[in-house]
Amino acid sequence: MAEKTVSTDSLAIESKKEYRGKKLRMAFIGCGGIAQTHMQALREMPDVEVVAGCDILPERLENFQTKWGVTELYEDWRKMLKNVELDAVSVCTPNGVHAPASIDSSKAGLHVITEKPMAMNPRECQQMIDAAKKAGKKLCVGFQFRYHPNTQFLKKAADEGQFGKVMFMKCHALRRRGIPNWGVFGRKELQGGGPMIDIGVHIIEMAHYVMGSPRPVAASGNTWTFLGNKKSEVVSMWPNWDHKTYTVEDLAIGQIRFENGALMQIESSFCNHIEKDVWNFQMVGEKGGCTWDPPSIYRDQAGYMVNIQPGWISQESNFNTLFSIKLRNFVDACLKDTPLTAPGEAGLAVQKILDGVYRSAEAGKEVKID
Ligand SMILES: NC(=O)c1ccc[n+]([C@@H]2O[C@H](COP(=O)([O-])OP(=O)(O)OC[C@H]3O[C@@H](n4cnc5c(N)ncnc54)[C@H](O)[C@@H]3O)[C@@H](O)[C@H]2O)c1
Repeated sequence: MAEKTVSTDSLAIESKKEYRGKKLRMAFIGCGGIAQTHMQALREMPDVEVVAGCDILPERLENFQTKWGVTELYEDWRKMLKNVELDAVSVCTPNGVHAPASIDSSKAGLHVITEKPMAMNPRECQQMIDAAKKAGKKLCVGFQFRYHPNTQFLKKAADEGQFGKVMFMKCHALRRRGIPNWGVFGRKELQGGGPMIDIGVHIIEMAHYVMGSPRPVAASGNTWTFLGNKKSEVVSMWPNWDHKTYTVEDLAIGQIRFENGALMQIESSFCNHIEKDVWNFQMVGEKGGCTWDPPSIYRDQAGYMVNIQPGWISQESNFNTLFSIKLRNFVDACLKDTPLTAPGEAGLAVQKILDGVYRSAEAGKEVKID
C-alpha cells in the first residue's frame, strides 16, 4: 500500500457564512464521548452539515440535540439510514458495532468514517472494505495519530530513505493505571479486547505507517489479567471502573514478524506495575534509527554519531487538532475524491497485527497471519 505523508493546508477554510458549494450531509451512529470531539471539529467546517444522530441511549440523543442542535434523532441506525437523506456517516460506537453499522451505511450508498480500532477482527474489516467497494464509496478509519507532526516528520524521513531497510520497531502504549471508567472498554464481547486493541492500536498504526506498511505474516504474544477484575484494593487515576464486567486483559505483549523480515514488538497496558506511562515507538533501520517522542533521528554523519531533531515542529499535535485534520481528510475525500490517509486497507493491516497477538495468546504459540 503506497501511503504518502499528508498536507494540513486544507484546514485553512473559508467561513461557514461564505460557503456556497455542496455540503456533505452527515450523521452519527453512536453519540457518546468521542462523537463530541468529532462534532467539535465538524462544526468548524463550512462544507459539512450534521443532520442526524443515532444512539441506543435516549440521554445521549437528548444531549446531541441540546449541545449541537441536531434534531433528526434515532435509536436504530437502519431507520435513520432509511428516513434521512445523507452522504456520509461517522461511526462512534463501541468496537463490536463498527462493522454492522459501517456495512449497512455502505450498502445505503454512504461514505463511512469509523473510529478505531476498525472492527473486532480482520474478517469484519474485510467485509467492511468489500461493502464500501461494492457501493463505490469511501471507507476511512479514525487513525488520527498518523497526522501528528512527530509521525509526519519520521514518515517523511523514512520516505527519503534516511533509515534504510527497517529491521525493528518497539512500540509502547503503556498506562500504569488507566482503566477507562466510562463506556464498555472492559467488556471483551463488545470491544474485542483491552489495551492492545484500544490504545496499542494507536502506536501500531503510526509505527506501521512509518515503516512503510509491510505485510505481517506471524505473531507471538501473551495477555494477562491480574488487576482490573479486582475490587477496591487496586488504585487508579480513573477510579470506579466496572471491575465486575471486566473481562479484558490488563497487559498484552506481542511480537510481529513481517514479510520483509522486520520485527515489531508491542507492549500495551491499562494497568501495570511500572514506573510511569509510556507512549512511544522506536525504529531501527540499517542506515538510521528514530524515536517518536522526542521526535529524533539517530544516524552516523561526518564521522560522528549524530542525533537529529527538528529546530521547530508544528504545534498541531493536540487531540482536537488531530481530529480536525483526520475529519478534513475524510470530508475532502468524499467531496473532492482526494486520497484517504487511513483507508480501510490500513485498518485491516493493523487489525491483523492485533488479532495475531490475541490469537497467539490463546493458542500459547506463534500463529500465522494470512
Ligand atoms: N480515535 C481516538 O483517539 C478515540 C478516542 C476515544 C474513543 N475512540 C473510539 O470511539 C468508539 C466509542 O468510544 P467512546 O469513548 O465515545 O465510547 P462511549 O461509550 O462514550 O460512546 C459510545 C456510544 O455508542 C452508543 N452505542 C452503543 N451501541 C450502539 C448501537 N447499537 N447503536 C447506536 N449507538 C450505540 C453508546 O450508547 C454510547 O453513547 C470506540 O470504538 C473507541 O475505541 C477513539
